Amino acid sequence: MSREHDADAPDQYGLVGHPVAHSWSPFIHGMFAKATAQNLAYRLFDVAPQDFRRETLQLFAGGVRGLNVTLPHKQAAAELVNEMTPRAARAQAVNTIAFFEDTTLLGDNTDGLGLVADLERNLGVELAERRILILGAGGATRGVLGPLLEREPRALVIANRTPERAARLAAEFADLAEVRGCGFAEIAPPPFDLILNATSASLQGEMPPLPAGLVDERTVCYDMAYGRGHTPFTLWARALHAARTSKGWGMLVEQAAESFLLWRGMRPDTGPVLAALAQHG
Ligand code: ATR
Repeated sequence: MSREHDADAPDQYGLVGHPVAHSWSPFIHGMFAKATAQNLAYRLFDVAPQDFRRETLQLFAGGVRGLNVTLPHKQAAAELVNEMTPRAARAQAVNTIAFFEDTTLLGDNTDGLGLVADLERNLGVELAERRILILGAGGATRGVLGPLLEREPRALVIANRTPERAARLAAEFADLAEVRGCGFAEIAPPPFDLILNATSASLQGEMPPLPAGLVDERTVCYDMAYGRGHTPFTLWARALHAARTSKGWGMLVEQAAESFLLWRGMRPDTGPVLAALAQHG
């Protein structure tokens, strides 16, 4: 039923992905809605890649006002929308869609802002003048490169299982800063200040094969994946005595707050949600 039929019905939002069953986004947006007294519902939509375009357009036609987009649809979402924010256009990946009354479908990407907010505000990690290594060259990396480079790190290296993909992505962002793309075997010491795991290897219980000498006691290691307990990446970092390891819970909450801002015009306080999720990390 469209919202014109029932003024008291909650505004509809949700997450489109494949799979989505284990997502924490309904919990996060539920807490945001309660804290800000917004009448909205947030649901999960498991949509296979071949159905993405048709089913997503159907959701909007049915009254849905905004969607988050996750694996594996972020690049398809960039092709679906008819307008993009500059940061989404830069990434060519969309994680948030807003549907406006004039039928504009606006695509945004809040992943990078979410990551930078978590690193800087929640974890106290400096990015300016630091040496940063990103593992992976897929949609997750695409989404965060722009906001990371805006902080003007001293060096940024993208390393990927398929080296050509890393090299291509680095070339796409070369106008912003000195970015290098390579294979895992070509990553060279000295140790990095920050290593981000943006591969989906953790989800398969795997760890990319990395050379020695990349981690020392000052290195912060951040796995953009989230889940309970350690990942192969955080275990690897611990074994090498990294300064600190973290998973992507904070990034998830901060990117959700940015999506909420786009949809509802207010950025909820993320502190209470981070505290509620801390017991699950
Ligand atoms: P996402 O949107 O999460 O980035 P993606 O575009 O499918 O998803 O990219 C997944 C990333 O994880 C890629 O960098 C992929 O490497 P390839 O480009 O070589 O495919 C990486 N990846 C996936 N499984 C991996 C594994 N077992 N070891 C190392 N890298 C892996």
